[in-house]
Amino acid sequence: MVPVRPKLPRHVAVIMDGNGRWATAKGLPRSQGHRAGADAIDRLMDASLSIGLENVSLYAFSTENWRRPITEIRSIFDLLVEYIESRLEPIAEKGIRILHSGSRKRLSAKVLSKIDKAVEVTRKNRNLTVNFCLNYGSQEELLSAFGKLLEDRQKKRIGRGKPVSAKELEKYLYTYSLPPVDLLIRTAGEQRLSNFLLWQSAYAELFFCDTLWPEFDRKSLESALDWFAGRTRKFGGLENE
Ligand code: FPP
Repeated sequence: MVPVRPKLPRHVAVIMDGNGRWATAKGLPRSQGHRAGADAIDRLMDASLSIGLENVSLYAFSTENWRRPITEIRSIFDLLVEYIESRLEPIAEKGIRILHSGSRKRLSAKVLSKIDKAVEVTRKNRNLTVNFCLNYGSQEELLSAFGKLLEDRQKKRIGRGKPVSAKELEKYLYTYSLPPVDLLIRTAGEQRLSNFLLWQSAYAELFFCDTLWPEFDRKSLESALDWFAGRTRKFGGLENE
């Protein structure tokens, strides 16, 4: 049964932390932690669908993750390719729309073609939007957004000397089609934003839990949603306005 939650966040963002620690604690290679992390993504999507969430953003690979050993980077991208190959059909059948947020630079042609296909095949789905943030970093996103905005202004000969508004800038963000983040969840006990959706999370409620990402399940998500439902959000104003 779908639980009654009067205040459901329209956009939930998740920093899926703790795959490595989960694997190490079990004496497994880190790649197995990421594999278990991918299974946790499946569970999250199913729980989100049945709860009735509209938009979920997942931090799958950051612009800073390139600093990891090449073997680990390869294992994450191989897993991603395998994930899309094996899950795209069921994802599409469930009415899930896939989006990609992040820079296309440095992503291999193979990875790009899989992501593009997932986005294209699920384009018209509306039951749930899952935004894979891959090669994503907020600072890169904002710099590239400003760059594209100025280039467009120059090309179209508009806005010269005019200050940039938030509305104008937002059109150039990877997340343009999504509402602002209401609830940001980070697993595995860390309390940082790590360059994730900084602009979009300006008024997000931040939920930190100790659960390692591979162990995050429907109950964990429900705890976060229950906590969110009890928050008073003022967006810089006063309560009861
Ligand atoms: C953080 O855990 C996780 C990542 C950097 C990668 C997230 C990737 C997945 C959840 C699986 C990938 C699946 C797909 C479909 C892309 P960590 O490795 O930093 O863990 P640690 O802090 O315990 O070392």
